[in-house]
Parts: sequence; structure tokens; C-alpha cells
Amino acid sequence: MHISCTSLLGLRGMSRDDLIGLLDRAAECLPMVTGQEPSVPSSGPRRIVANLFLEDSTRTRCSFEIAAKRLGHDTVNLTAKGTSVSKGENLLDTAATIAAMGVDSIVIRCSESGGAALVQAATGKPVINAGDGRHEHPTQGLLDAFTLRQSLGTLDGKTILIVGDIDNSRVARSNVYGLTTLGAQILLVGPPNLVSPRMCELVPEGVEISHDLDEAMTRADAVMMLRVQRERGASKAISSDYRSAFGLNVDRASRLSTGVPILHPGPSNRGFEIDDEVHDDPDRSLIRDQVTNGVAIRMAVLERSMKLD
Ligand code: CP
Repeated sequence: MHISCTSLLGLRGMSRDDLIGLLDRAAECLPMVTGQEPSVPSSGPRRIVANLFLEDSTRTRCSFEIAAKRLGHDTVNLTAKGTSVSKGENLLDTAATIAAMGVDSIVIRCSESGGAALVQAATGKPVINAGDGRHEHPTQGLLDAFTLRQSLGTLDGKTILIVGDIDNSRVARSNVYGLTTLGAQILLVGPPNLVSPRMCELVPEGVEISHDLDEAMTRADAVMMLRVQRERGASKAISSDYRSAFGLNVDRASRLSTGVPILHPGPSNRGFEIDDEVHDDPDRSLIRDQVTNGVAIRMAVLERSMKLD
């Protein structure tokens, strides 16, 4: 029996067929997440998934662990605090040490852009990028595509607004790559010092920049709000009128066309980039669906990473 090793380092360059294959498999996994179907019995081939989270996380870390368990696998969970990382051991030595213990797959979150590819090169294991610096967060991009597809039916020709701190956002990058491959038009909205033209150079077809949220909203089929990433230095780029210009407050949200959904990858700064009432709007907000769908996506990705031939 041979395990094919398939890493997921990013959505850039992933084919439409591969993307759709993962979304379709996640749709099959979803009833296990919602309790409508039982989890995979643990009598099957058990694998060990190492979740190595060197940056903080609630959604991604827990959902990878739950996804592995739903598939009948075992997990080891490591964070910077409580491991030898806090004594100065570096990312690659830490990853290689875990790999040497014979884990089958490594899920990595780290502050280094490109860190997931380095871990793959250093370990030879299937590596799943759970967010590496400002580079990519591919499972977030997949779960957002899945949630949008659930809500809109298709992404072909739809205009998706991604609003806020674009330059610091690995979520924005993965969404740009994934959603454009699935046929969507992306409107990146934010102040000039947080939305550089680089994404339009990298993905010239289907990506546009706007600094006028109210105008952009008139074209929106869906709106994805992003958190201002103060931990990556965004505070310095925020002017005093950021909230009035780029916050999704109640009045602004009420001007969206009927049925336009609102997403946020979380964690949210309630009352800053999004008002409480908008965040919790039962008719528009898909924020909790994103979290549920994230487990199904991570099941599909873990399964792909450790397929038995
Ligand atoms: N969206 C996301 O990555 O959230 P966490 O940081 O809580 O994992």
C-alpha cells in the first residue's frame, strides 16, 4: 500500500478541475460535520496529522483537528507556547523533528511568507498551508469559495468584493486565485495604502481595485470584509476615517441589494470593520456557515493529502 503525498501550499496555479474536485468532495463530507451522517469509522487506515500552529488561531486549528478526527485519524497539536519554539528552535528544525517521528501529514501556520513550502522541502511530507505570513491561506480560500457557491449557486460572472486590509491578507490572496479560477470577478476595496496594484499585475484578468466602497457595493454579488491586521503593522496605515470609509455599518449594509451575502474569515473586529448587527444578520451573514464549511473543506484537503493507492 502506498500513500501519495499531495501538499496544498496555495491556490495560485491550481486548476479549475482540482478546485471543483475539492469543493465537491467537501460537499460530500458536510453531512458528517453537521451530524446528519456518522464520521468515518476509526477501524479504517489511521494516519497521524501534526497540526503545527506557530501563530494564534481558533477556527483553522480546531477545524483541522476536528476534520482529522471525523476522518478517523489521530492528531498531535503543537503551538509556539509549550514547545521548544519558545526556547528558540526555528520553524524548519521544529517541522523536521516532528516529521522524524513519523507523522503522515503536517498542517502548518507560521509568520514566514512561503514557510509552508520550506517545511515541505525540509520534511518531504505532505504539507497543508494553514496560513503562512502574507502569502496564502488556501483552505480559507476554498471554504470561502464553497460558502459562496452554496449561497450564489455559481461563481461564474459574479462580482465579489473583498474589503479592507488587502496587502497584509493571505486570505485575500487565496481568494483572488481561487475565485478568479472559478470565474468570479474580484473587486479589491480599501485605502490606497492597504491595496497595492500587485494583485492586478499577478492576476490581470478578473481583478480590479477600488477605493470607493459605496460605489463598489452597487456592483456586488457578495461582500467579504477583512480584519485590519494590526499584528502585521497595519495600524500605522489606518487613518481616522477608515471606519466611516470602509466599515460595513448598518446603514451601508442596508443599501446592498436584497440577497447579497456578507462574509468574514474571522476573527472580526466588531464595531470597526463590521457592525454587530451586520455580523449577526440572519438574512445576510454567512460567517457561521463559513466556519462549519471549513471543517468539510479540511476533511477533503486532508483526505487528498494522504490518499491510499
Ligand atoms: N480565518 C482564520 O484563519 O481564523 P483563525 O485565525 O481563527 O484560524
